[in-house]
Amino acid sequence: MKRIVFAGIAIGFSILVTMQACKPDPNLDVVADAPLGFTIPEGWPKPFYNFENNAVTEPGFELGRKLFYDPRLSRTNEVSCGSCHQPSAAFAQLDHPISHGVEDKLGTRNSPSIFNMNWHTSFFWDGGVNHLESQPINPIQNPVEMDETLDNIIAKLKADANYPKMFKAAFGDETINSQRIFKAFAQFMGMMVSSNAKYDKYKRGEAGANLTPEEQSGYTVFKNNCATCHIEPLFTDFSFRNNGIAITSVNDSGRAHITLDAADMYKFKVPSLRNLRYTWPYMHDGRYNNLDDVMNHYTKGITQSATLDPALKNGVQLTDKERSDLLAFLNTLNDEEFVRDPRFQEVN
Ligand code: HEC
Ligand code: HEC
Repeated sequence: MKRIVFAGIAIGFSILVTMQACKPDPNLDVVADAPLGFTIPEGWPKPFYNFENNAVTEPGFELGRKLFYDPRLSRTNEVSCGSCHQPSAAFAQLDHPISHGVEDKLGTRNSPSIFNMNWHTSFFWDGGVNHLESQPINPIQNPVEMDETLDNIIAKLKADANYPKMFKAAFGDETINSQRIFKAFAQFMGMMVSSNAKYDKYKRGEAGANLTPEEQSGYTVFKNNCATCHIEPLFTDFSFRNNGIAITSVNDSGRAHITLDAADMYKFKVPSLRNLRYTWPYMHDGRYNNLDDVMNHYTKGITQSATLDPALKNGVQLTDKERSDLLAFLNTLNDEEFVRDPRFQEVN
């Protein structure tokens, strides 16, 4: 119910914001205090980030959304967060093995999807950032991503016709500072919950959401072979593991890059298996274009090494039937409602 109310308000508010582009909107202050409900989906654990000291409000969320899609946050005024985190790709970067930033500079890692961020205990493939509110500073300052300074961004936002009013609506006065920018980002990204896949509806016992015999059997295959790391209902345990993909010339050390501990070499944060239909290519460097390649990896491509996770030492043995059932189950984790949710799209 809250969702629906929120969607209604959001659309209404978007219209206000759009209108505001032409003429200042005196109503902005009126909605300033409307708090937005963040509901934990049924049966899910408590989130790690619960908006403590950053209660989500309609204007705060809308400000976060505007910032997320604003290319002026980059040095060249061309690259926004949304360039690499696209709605149609469940906020990953479609068809890009590694990220493309300002002047088409290449990173070394695949842009991860963004949803259910409040449950993440750390961010990035190597867990190098541990708070949702401090995360955006990294892409902003990264020379191959947005390559911009906070001072420049704040100056650009202050010179804009709408931002000062939006900051006032969200935080009480027109002051624009980095803390407020980060809080608005956290409000927007924190509300991006993906919990309406067929799997979720089945789990909640909703009418018409039965799994087919193939999906049901695939669910069992999943539990027997994948669930050690890709734990329900988020389909990750947020731990760092080496799943045996071959080491490439980039020689990305993964978690060891942060901990400098040899025992963490080549370990990466276990990604969620939700929304795989939209988030390809896969793995931290986007090396696999499709789930067949991922299956081939787990069944016959495991590279042995000192830090390979013991659960994958012998690879995964699957019959052809089990393999196609597993794929059918993974398909029940795609949440089209989330990908199409108007609340999270760019508003012009
Ligand atoms: C040039 C492409 C690019 C841009 C622009 C970009 N990102 Fe990212 N984003 C990435 C990549 C690549 C990673 C993974 C980095 C790593 O693991 O080292 C990432 C990681 C993240 C994560 C962590 C996800 C996880 O599962 O740990 C979040 C959240 C995020 N970005 C939000 C943002 C926000 C907010 C902005 C805008 C301020 C932004 N990104 C701009 C490419 C980009
Ligand atoms: C030992 C822990 C572990 C097990 C077991 C495991 N995975 Fe993974 N999985 C990982 C890790 C870690 C990654 C990320 C590796 C990387 O990018 O370097 C990953 C990545 C993936 C990805 C890519 C997702 C993306 O967004 O890039 C898919 C798909 C996947 N696993 C599916 C499976 C399936 C299906 C199974 C069971 C057959 C399975 N995994 C078993 C740890 C595991």
